[in-house]
This record gives sequence, C-alpha cells and structure tokens, in this order.
Amino acid sequence: QTEEPLHVMISGAPASGKGTQCHLITNKYGLVHVAAGDLLRAEIETGSENGKRAKEYMEKGQLVPDEIVVMDRLLKPDSAEKGWLLDGYPRSLSQATALKELGFKPDIFILLEVSEDTLVERVVGRRLDPVTGKIYHLKYSPPETKEIADRLTQRFDDTEEKVKLRLNTHHQNVEAVLSMYKDITIKINGNASQKEVFAQIDGALTTLLEQRKTSSESM
Ligand code: AP5
Repeated sequence: QTEEPLHVMISGAPASGKGTQCHLITNKYGLVHVAAGDLLRAEIETGSENGKRAKEYMEKGQLVPDEIVVMDRLLKPDSAEKGWLLDGYPRSLSQATALKELGFKPDIFILLEVSEDTLVERVVGRRLDPVTGKIYHLKYSPPETKEIADRLTQRFDDTEEKVKLRLNTHHQNVEAVLSMYKDITIKINGNASQKEVFAQIDGALTTLLEQRKTSSESM
C-alpha cells in the first residue's frame, strides 16, 4: 500500500519565516515547495508582460490579481506524487475557493505568528544569495563567507515603507483564508529561533503522520 503524500499550507505575515521554514520542511519531508512570491519573481525575471504587471502590484504591496503561475505549478505531476507545501497561497478567499474547487485540500494549515516589530526587523535585514537561493539575515543568519556576503541581493519590496503596505494587505485578507481552514490550523510561535520554530512544525507533521498510520492500521 503506497502512502498518500502530505499536503501542507504555510501562512503568516510578510517575513514571518515561511520561506526559511519551507527549506527545512522540504529537506526533511521531500515535498514540492510551491512559493507564490518566488514564482511571481521568476515571472518578473523573464521580462514578460505578465511579469511587468505583477511587479506593479508587488511594489505597492498588493495582491497580484492574476497569479495563475501558482496553480500551473501545483498541477504538475511531481506535486501529486511527492505531495506539496504551499507557501503564500492562498492569500484571499477567492484563491482558497479556487483551490477547493480543483480538489486541492491541505492536511494541515500552519500559521506562523510573529510580532510586528520583529517582522520589520526581519524584512530590512533580509538578503538573498542569487547563486544558491538561500535566505540570509544580516543579524540572525549572516552569510558564511565574504564571497557570499559580496554577492547578496535585496528584494525590491524589502523596505520598511513597503513592508507596512504588505502587512496591511495581509491583515485585510488573513481572516477570510483562516476561516476556510480553521479545523486543521496549527498556530506556531514564529518569534523563536529558526531551529525552535522548525521543531514545533516538525512535531506537528510527525504527529500527523503517526495519526494517519494508527488510523490505517485500525482499518
Ligand atoms: P512573498 O514573496 O510571498 O512575500 P511575503 O509573504 O511578504 O513573505 P516573505 O517572502 O517576505 O517572508 P517569509 O515569511 O518567507 O520570510 P523569510 O523566511 O524570508 O510575496 C511577495 C509579493 O508577491 C506579495 O506582496 C504580493 O504582491 C505577491 N503575492 C505573493 N503571493 C501572492 C498570492 N497568493 N496572490 C497574489 N499575489 C501574491 O524570513 C524573513 C527574514 O527573517 C530572513 O532574512 C530570514 O533569514 C529571517 N528569519 C526567518 N526566520 C527567523 C527566525 N526564526 N529568527 C530570526 N530570523 C528569522
């Protein structure tokens, strides 16, 4: 009997640590990481008209209205085979409804809760390595070598001013999304260190897998 793969959603305010935790989760659980923001930034990189339009919304901290790239990625066969980890999607009731209509149902909805002051500090200190894709923070996870430090980049929407706009958008939409998944939501204290946050998430996923095993054995 082949085991049904895990289907996980992770949500939280801007810079709450979703991307960081997703790297740790995929390393351990082998899920396909589908990150809405990363897919949109990749679209911008191609220079396409859709990418240009997406950037206009992202610069204002608003939701991109036609975020079809996410659904396209989710519909690829590897997501069905290995299971998925949806990061930053759905962010509105209409996105949650669209997923439901296509039969994408999560087993667990992880909500990272982080205080507002911490979010701003995390945003302004965040840096990205364009070579490895790794997420750094100047204070909390500084680059390992000078060579890496010299090539780090910053996201165009990672300023204090823009994160306030992104936070507003988050507050406007989060309740509607949460209401769809409240039965399977687990709230995680995201203020702790990366390691401690992962330990909480790992514990929840392990429990979920054990519960599945027990219920399939008793059938
Ligand atoms: P997106 O790219 O998803 O941005 P976001 O939600 O604002 O989240 P971030 O990527 O900023 O943060 P994160 O939670 O991944 O944190 P990270 O791990 O990097 O979206 C960008 C834009 O795209 C949106 O504004 C919107 O316009 C558009 N968009 C996206 N999804 C959409 C959708 N579904 N529909 C329509 N439009 C959409 O961590 C942040 C920093 O903190 C890092 O430096 C990290 O090293 C550090 N850090 C992480 N964890 C810890 C810790 N525990 N302790 C100390 N430091 C930590």
